[in-house]
Amino acid sequence: MAWGLVTGSSSGIGYEFAKVLADEGYDVILVARREDRLLELKTEIEQNYQQKAEVIVADLQQAEEVQRVFEESLAFTDNLEILINNAGFGQIGDFTESDLQRNLDMIDLNVRALTHLSGLYAKKMKASRKGYICNVASTAAFQPGPGMAVYFATKAFVLSFSEALAAELEDHNVFVSALCPGPTISEFGKAAKFSSKGVVGKAKLPSSQEVAEFGYKALIEGRATAIHGTLNNLMAQSNRFVPRSLSTSLTKKMISKA
Ligand SMILES: NC(=O)c1ccc[n+]([C@@H]2O[C@H](COP(=O)([O-])OP(=O)(O)OC[C@H]3O[C@@H](n4cnc5c(N)ncnc54)[C@H](OP(=O)(O)O)[C@@H]3O)[C@@H](O)[C@H]2O)c1
Repeated sequence: MAWGLVTGSSSGIGYEFAKVLADEGYDVILVARREDRLLELKTEIEQNYQQKAEVIVADLQQAEEVQRVFEESLAFTDNLEILINNAGFGQIGDFTESDLQRNLDMIDLNVRALTHLSGLYAKKMKASRKGYICNVASTAAFQPGPGMAVYFATKAFVLSFSEALAAELEDHNVFVSALCPGPTISEFGKAAKFSSKGVVGKAKLPSSQEVAEFGYKALIEGRATAIHGTLNNLMAQSNRFVPRSLSTSLTKKMISKA
């Protein structure tokens, strides 16, 4: 039986990704900090999809917890087929005014944990010549983000790292995809402290389910970069044709209204 692992599966895109994998016939390993949410999802997957679901409660900001997730997952499968590196958060506010420790924690989660898990599982996937890794980046990856400077930089890392890894592994039957959603309905805005009256709060956004279904399809199709939504695609691609200073100042305006 094939297994998948989803980080950040207690809410939002990761929660929906776990259900997509179960619907596709995968047994799933659910990872996040909120055990009650993960146990509810485990029950839902076992009852509605008749797949196995195992829970590993972990704070992925801690390097030793990331290593523990890998080791505990080996008890369920020595041959993980799909890794969804989804856990992540953002924080709104100018860098000098925002909580420095929270910015460092963000790097530990969005960048370090994702790289650590990719390293551990990609090696095994390469040896077995089978595997899929989806790293959840963002449309934030395509330009600097004044007002969310560290978050945008973490996602630029995820995009660049994933595209390079995809090229390194393509001849080994291991597929890597950077999923780039734009603003999506989830608990992200609450964690990042967006205003409910701001542009993101008032916009009509896609659901996490829609984004997870899109991300899964792109991963299986072997697309190294998958930007969700036509407008998001246009905006991300337009960065190649306008001066970087212009896209930075436009993004600054947009984030100031978030
Ligand atoms: N929603 C958007 O607008 C949007 C747009 C582009 C990209 N993204 C990206 O999509 C990914 C998923 O976010 P989301 O929108 O689904 O937000 P979300 O609903 O807030 O989900 C974030 C998930 O990450 C987990 N998480 C946070 N800190 C963690 C930690 N220290 N250790 C382990 N797990 C942790 C959370 O679980 P616990 O709190 O239970 O640990 C939760 O399951 C993120 O990488 C985000 O950057 C989101």
